[in-house]
Amino acid sequence: MQPMKSILFVCLGNICRSPMAEYIFKDLVTKAGLSDQFKIASAATSNEEHGNPVYPPAKRKLNEHGISCEGHAAHQITRAEYKHYDYIVAMEPRNLQRLRPIIGDDPDGKVSLLLDHTPATDIQHHNRGIADPWYTGDFDEAYEDILIGCKALLEEMKECL
Ligand code: 4NP
Repeated sequence: MQPMKSILFVCLGNICRSPMAEYIFKDLVTKAGLSDQFKIASAATSNEEHGNPVYPPAKRKLNEHGISCEGHAAHQITRAEYKHYDYIVAMEPRNLQRLRPIIGDDPDGKVSLLLDHTPATDIQHHNRGIADPWYTGDFDEAYEDILIGCKALLEEMKECL
């Protein structure tokens, strides 16, 4: 059996984008028959939403696609989690700035942006952040962008399983 890969998705509040990424990615790996090869979770850079479930419009969007997010409780990333996970996948550049005081430097090169896992030729998505639906109100756009990023990330991971 191959070693398990662990991924921690990160956003500002851990109630919209990073849990959407967590549960979408879990759904993709389950459908690919690979769930025993991944440990997948999500966390916030802020402590504002500590203990809260997925924000209702984000939960509705996941449920529309047959994806459950029951039992989610938001939490702030810790330095211990940085060390524990193989990949720390953030939603937007601002998350990277806010990660810095919590985790320090990234000597292991674990931190990336979700949409940077799309091919560089995908100029519509590569090298940009996932807009925050907490502010934009556009949960359709967030879902579609996160799905594209998660599919690209899984394809990349499959190559090193
Ligand atoms: P998220 O969205 O980072 O995608 O979970 C937000 C959720 C809550 C807040 C900001 C963004 N907030 O300021 O409470």
